[in-house]
Amino acid sequence: MKRMIIVIAAFALVTLITVAAQAESKGGQLFGQKCAMCHVVNGKGGAIGPDLTKIYAKLKDKDIRAKLENPKKSNPNSSMPSFKTLPKSDMDALMGYIKTLK
Ligand code: HEC
Repeated sequence: MKRMIIVIAAFALVTLITVAAQAESKGGQLFGQKCAMCHVVNGKGGAIGPDLTKIYAKLKDKDIRAKLENPKKSNPNSSMPSFKTLPKSDMDALMGYIKTLK
């Protein structure tokens, strides 16, 4: 019985790690598709917007989400498009990725 529990626990752990890794890469993909043409991260990307490598040290989670919803709110002249129509699951994946940028 004890052995069975260990096997199940190990399986659950592997599944969890896999799911976490996928979520992160989805966010990374989204960033590549939607943000990297304007924003540099770790030395790569476009120069239209500011470097986002350490953005999490500067802005809070909710401020970054607000920026994505309505870029013109914090800067009326912003050339950044709104990502308001992004599905919530994509937004969460994207935020998960941004959180890892240091
Ligand atoms: C068309 C170019 C463009 C795209 C695409 C774009 N941005 Fe921006 N972004 C800008 C510009 C320009 C600024 C600076 C002006 C401003 O504050 O709006 C900016 C500012 C920001 C800021 C505030 C940075 C700071 O230091 O205050 C964040 C956060 C941000 N962008 C995140 C993103 C994310 C995440 C994506 C992808 C979902 C994205 N941007 C896509 C052009 C872009």
